[in-house]
Amino acid sequence: MKKTAHELTTDAYNAFAQQYEKLWGESFQENKTDYFLLQKFCNNFKKEQKVLEVGCGTGNVLQFLLSQGINAYGIDVSEGMLQEAAKHVPKDRLSVMPATHLAFEDESFDGILSRWVLQHVENFTLAMQEKYRVLKKNGICYLAIHISQDNKTHTCWHALPDKAGRLYFILRSKASIESVFQKVGFTITSCEIQVHADKNDRDVHYFLKK
Ligand SMILES: C[S@@+](CC[C@H](N)C(=O)[O-])C[C@H]1O[C@@H](n2cnc3c(N)ncnc32)[C@H](O)[C@@H]1O
Repeated sequence: MKKTAHELTTDAYNAFAQQYEKLWGESFQENKTDYFLLQKFCNNFKKEQKVLEVGCGTGNVLQFLLSQGINAYGIDVSEGMLQEAAKHVPKDRLSVMPATHLAFEDESFDGILSRWVLQHVENFTLAMQEKYRVLKKNGICYLAIHISQDNKTHTCWHALPDKAGRLYFILRSKASIESVFQKVGFTITSCEIQVHADKNDRDVHYFLKK
């Protein structure tokens, strides 16, 4: 049977996991905006408060959260990415799980973080409803997402190097993303946009509150 875009994307991350770790694993430390916003997210939590990273990839950010004394857990759909993550963080903090079906009780986490994941998720509303459900009241959610440059939704494929496969992107408009936040019940507390002259998408960083 023909594979879905989601399955092909997961296959590509599985095949590319080791190279992803080498190329981009530590990139959050080098990008000033990413690092500043990650630190801003961490500053909301006291030691031992519980945070979930959705789409934790190779675990580098999760390792950073743990180094800050945060009781952090990570989930991802790619077993290959989680195998790399297990080199940085204890295995019992990692689970194979989709963003759309979080196997946690309601109100389990003080914070949720998801960086550069939601542009791969087809059911964006369900992924946001799940985050809202597992977050405690007044909990903080930090999302970094690739969005479209205009008011339309665009889909595209990006080929990874060395024939590792292709990643499927759904670049949604800022307005459509924010209408989902509102529908689900989140309040936007801050939004930072980075525009790229040479790309057909832009990066947006949201801080949301339940
Ligand atoms: C660009 S990487 C980002 C990894 C990490 N968040 C970081 O900042 O380096 C995207 C990650 O999202 C994961 N992913 C894609 N779709 C997902 C889904 N539906 N549920 C959970 N994880 C997903 C991929 O497997 C991959 O590890």
